[in-house]
Amino acid sequence: MDAWAVIVAAGRGERLLPATGGVAKQFLEWQGHPLYWASARVFGRCARIHGLVFVFPENALEDERCRVQRLAGDLGLPCRVVAGGARRQDSVRHGLDALPAEAGLVLIHDAARPFVSAVLAGQVLDALQAGAAGVIPVTPVTDTIKVVQDGVVRMTPDRASLAAVQTPQGFVVSTLREAHYRAEAEGWDVTDDAMLLERCGHEVRTVPGESGNIKITRAEDLSMLERGVPSVRMCVGYGYDVHRYIEPGAPKARLLRLGGVAIPAEGLAVQAHSDGDVLLHALMDALLGCLGEGDIGQLFPDSDPALDNVSSCVLLEAVLERARQRGLRIEHVDLTVVAQKPRISPHRETIRGNVARLLGLAAGHVCVKATTEEQLGFTGQGLGLKVVALVTASLPVA
Ligand code: CTP
Ligand code: MG
Repeated sequence: MDAWAVIVAAGRGERLLPATGGVAKQFLEWQGHPLYWASARVFGRCARIHGLVFVFPENALEDERCRVQRLAGDLGLPCRVVAGGARRQDSVRHGLDALPAEAGLVLIHDAARPFVSAVLAGQVLDALQAGAAGVIPVTPVTDTIKVVQDGVVRMTPDRASLAAVQTPQGFVVSTLREAHYRAEAEGWDVTDDAMLLERCGHEVRTVPGESGNIKITRAEDLSMLERGVPSVRMCVGYGYDVHRYIEPGAPKARLLRLGGVAIPAEGLAVQAHSDGDVLLHALMDALLGCLGEGDIGQLFPDSDPALDNVSSCVLLEAVLERARQRGLRIEHVDLTVVAQKPRISPHRETIRGNVARLLGLAAGHVCVKATTEEQLGFTGQGLGLKVVALVTASLPVA
């Protein structure tokens, strides 16, 4: 059965209005998008969710339809938009009406819970697929809860049997639809969808909720949005480069350099337009990979006479300047030299120290490894050498 998610974002956000300057909380800008989009992105990472329905206040519907249309391209999921109603349960019902016929399962989620995780959504879906008609995430209650009427305590339910309820709540669509229609017909007023199933006599199962999955409700919750903003995103860049060995003295023959360090290798030279530092070339490609900016061939064409025998350290400087302008923060560099000859291990620490210096990193953040390919292939036959580079870094979130 296909699963869809309904994101309810049609409330007025009344309790927060004084703190937001009149903006309904689901439309607060967070991570460059309206808050409701945070949940959409999480559901976009759940392979089992086939589409999304957004429920918006009537008066915001057309603007938000345009915005969702614009954003939906990045998500790769069909998105539908529909107007909500006066109560949350009306908004959910309208959302259910907008589901396509093939949606057999649905997650109902509050737009005001931006920290929902794909893992939690997956656990709700797992329980549904195991046969439950309704599934809710719950967390244990830590405060003692009292039933209070007119300022007087009427009773104290056993705390161990109480649970706080979150969204996404998962349902078999036909069961939830029926429950909503019955609620309409019989005038039920509920605060969550599970309550409808309970009233209809269906079993509702629970899965453990997540303590971080809070609902932004009061002014003090806004600080969660400040703290929760990941200002950077991690990235990993991969670089690979090969150079051919040729006779020293042949045209374009360069003495072997790795990581800016001259490596004594009698009778060996590499063929290159620049100084042929294959390690720095792989490293630059990995850095450009992090930036999403192609490869060094594009930046420094080997047809450019100005680059004849140029030091790769100079080229690296130019790449690092681009990285600096983009705000790239390099965390770790892992380099593997693959060569049958010469032996790299005596030079490993020198290379490591020099690469760390060039990148402005502590030596512990750079690893240089070397291997042969057991006399196999072109490195094994001593025809050339190659280097593989991995750069782990972070970039500011645009
Ligand atoms: N919601 C909705 N339609 C309504 C009421 C609420 O779609 N008529 C949505 C809200 O947008 C929110 C979620 O249901 O994402 C949970 O409701 P709540 O936290 O109570 O939000 P609001 O009703 O908007 O806030 P308040 O109660 O402070 O006015
Ligand atoms: Mg409300």
